[in-house]
Amino acid sequence: MKIGIHDLDVATTHFVLKLDSMAEALGVDPGKYHMGLGQDEFSVPAPDEDVVTMAAEAATRLLSRNDASKIRMVLFATETGIDQSKAAGVFVHGLLGLPNAVRTVEFKQACYSGTAALQTAVNHVARYPEDQVLVIASDIARYAVDSGGEPTQGAGAVAMLIAADPSILEIEPDSGVYTADVNDFWRPNDSSTPFVEGKLSLDAYMDATLGAWDDLVARRGIEISDIHRFLHHQPFTKMARKAHAKLAEHLGVELGADLIEESMTYNRRVGNSYTASLYFGLVAQLQGNDDLAGKRLGLFSYGSGSVSEFFTGIVQPGYAEHLHADNVAESLDSRVELSFEEYRERHNAYVGSSDNNETEKVTDAPFRFSGVIDHVRQYEAN
Ligand code: CAA
Repeated sequence: MKIGIHDLDVATTHFVLKLDSMAEALGVDPGKYHMGLGQDEFSVPAPDEDVVTMAAEAATRLLSRNDASKIRMVLFATETGIDQSKAAGVFVHGLLGLPNAVRTVEFKQACYSGTAALQTAVNHVARYPEDQVLVIASDIARYAVDSGGEPTQGAGAVAMLIAADPSILEIEPDSGVYTADVNDFWRPNDSSTPFVEGKLSLDAYMDATLGAWDDLVARRGIEISDIHRFLHHQPFTKMARKAHAKLAEHLGVELGADLIEESMTYNRRVGNSYTASLYFGLVAQLQGNDDLAGKRLGLFSYGSGSVSEFFTGIVQPGYAEHLHADNVAESLDSRVELSFEEYRERHNAYVGSSDNNETEKVTDAPFRFSGVIDHVRQYEAN
């Protein structure tokens, strides 16, 4: 039985910062951002946007085309948890009006957990083929000002419906996995920005790429030439190029840049969306120029700390007619541009507090975070 991604959709934020504005304000050569990091701009949330509002927006579009009564689980993957106890997915479940007979859980392992959720969903459908699972990866990458990570910030959500006989991508059995205890990027409970060992994180990512690939080969005996396109987690798109080159060197083969090029279109503009980044890459790749029907994609998911997975999927015949996330470029174009000063003011004004507050009304997205009453986060439809 084939199991995989039956439908998917995305959402991002109200605001955008162009990295040219950051370069000018900080006196940095813009080439460092565009070429050195492979980033052009990043999404910035309005005060009334968070991982729940982005997730609900992506999921509501997806559910408008599908039968919500088949959904048996909602798996919400995020690094940007909004509560230590209650899963963000429960807020989304409420906003979407999903049936009560649903299991809802949050997954965490830095940027990797979207893939853990996806594989858990696939395993559930293998046992209960009539069920469908809503997997949502939603994150806001928020780094300290003047840190190396600041130009690699971003925000976005991808919602995916996992089902038997999928219309878009069959997830193949057997993947390569790799866990190594490394402190390359982490965010303690009392910090709204991560601690990052930048250079260590690059090495940890590339070690994980090779480790997960080698495990995939050991499990499946797959050849690199069996893979038609590669999609890598993209904390900044240059990272995908580095990992791709490292894999080629490891295997002693040529792997052209064209094998990853199209997957980077949206991440250059969204910035890092942690758990969602790989899946923004998938949407971009599927919307690229090539007919990928019947072709195998190799996906590499990395989460600092670190856990990673190399897995493969077969693009389904007729997938292009089932790709409804065709509004991505348009929604990226319609973000409201901030000046560098406005961005920094908003960044510095961020309060991750549960004291009573009412948020400024800014976003015109379908759902907004309206504030906190008696320590309870409040959401409303726009
Ligand atoms: N024109 C063209 N290129 C230029 C340039 C210019 N004028 N100036 C610099 N560059 C190039 C540099 O040569 C360098 O290229 P290489 O990497 O190919 O050598 C690149 O731009 C970056 O320059 P630096 O190394 O000097 O950049 P930096 O030290 O300021 O920061 C970073 C780089 C460490 C990755 C930083 O962005 C960071 O800390 N990011 C957050 C951590 C991260 O994303 N790590 C990735 C792996 S971890 C992960 O994947 C999980 C996750 O999502 C966070």
